[in-house]
Amino acid sequence: MTKKIVALAGDGIGPEIMAAGLQVLAATAEKIGFDYQVEEKPFGGAGIDAVGHPLPADTLAAAKEADAILLAAIGGPQYDLAPVRPEQGLLAIRKELELYANIRPVKIFETLAHLSPLKAERIAGVDFVMVRELTGGIYFGDHILEEDKARDINDYSAEEIERIVRQAFEIASRRRKLVTSIDKQNVLATSKLWRQVAEQVAKDYPDVTLEHQLVDSAAMLMITKPSHFDVLVTENLFGDILSDEASVLPGTLGVMPSASHSANGPSLYEPIHGSAPDIAGQGIANPVSMILSVAMMLRESFGREEGAERIEQAVDAAFKEGVLTADLGGRASTQEMTEAIIKNL
Ligand code: NAD
Ligand code: IPM
Ligand code: MN
Repeated sequence: MTKKIVALAGDGIGPEIMAAGLQVLAATAEKIGFDYQVEEKPFGGAGIDAVGHPLPADTLAAAKEADAILLAAIGGPQYDLAPVRPEQGLLAIRKELELYANIRPVKIFETLAHLSPLKAERIAGVDFVMVRELTGGIYFGDHILEEDKARDINDYSAEEIERIVRQAFEIASRRRKLVTSIDKQNVLATSKLWRQVAEQVAKDYPDVTLEHQLVDSAAMLMITKPSHFDVLVTENLFGDILSDEASVLPGTLGVMPSASHSANGPSLYEPIHGSAPDIAGQGIANPVSMILSVAMMLRESFGREEGAERIEQAVDAAFKEGVLTADLGGRASTQEMTEAIIKNL
């Protein structure tokens, strides 16, 4: 059966890296016999420009019908003062599709280890997965801005906590079997509930260890001993901040993919970085974050492990040949990087 993939290129470097991701998908599909069609739709700033909305109705309808969604990046300075922002489209699609589980793997490519701001001995062996709650918490509570005061509401139900913590345990049970749950239970009520629910879920996974970390010390540990972590799980805002922190460990945002899952609808795959307006239009963006998102899609939405592995190994091989974009200290263009990966598939 032909799989339907909706592609949302978005803004800034989005269209450049989406084109790269789709080229690699096409080349991989040919090798492994994967039958698919791609529908490209406006989203983010491109949606605002096209129809005045960052998540056009037609784009949302196509996404809901899709077998999987690829998203590149949205946003840009030209929308900073606009009444409606591209970011609202991103939050809306996550909420509409109930993409509550955001999975952000962090691992170090051996060839790129020297790019890490951390010392070699600290970065050795880093391989963990950030599991971020994506459809609740302070992001989706009321935001009340008055003239001289403001309020943002952080809300979590036990059910919302349970399903994301369960995802973390499922992932950990296939890995090193350590879940680090991150909260701020010395201050926040939502965190107290979070910790209780995590303890409950842990009972169903006797061979997985659960530990708790306060978010401030977890931020420290991520620099002082990042190899300690296996699977981290945390609420929306903490997960946003910690995953950008985690993303500096490999030395660039440009190699970091992610997956977002719901209970039974289509999943969405996107780089964790933004639209990089500072380098957009120059053909020098690193496409690897998008290309590895395509690999995650093949594995997690379509069960095509072989395709995912071919892509991941081809990326590694291209790096080893010294084909590197500017953020990796090289001179390769987006297209040259993409071609080197395709050649190594
Ligand atoms: P950013 O992630 O776009 O860029 C941060 C830095 O990393 C920049 O110097 C950029 O050039 C570099 N970078 C990012 N991706 C790269 C790549 N693939 N190759 C090479 N270099 C890369 O963050 P920002 O500048 O704070 O945000 C820009 C816009 O993106 C904002 O409008 C923000 O809201 C939006 N944003 C969108 C998403 C998303 O689409 N999921 C995520 C984060 C930020
Ligand atoms: C991300 C981004 C988004 C977030 C922004 C653009 C709304 O930073 O995907 O991490 O905060 O979730
Ligand atoms: Mn973020």
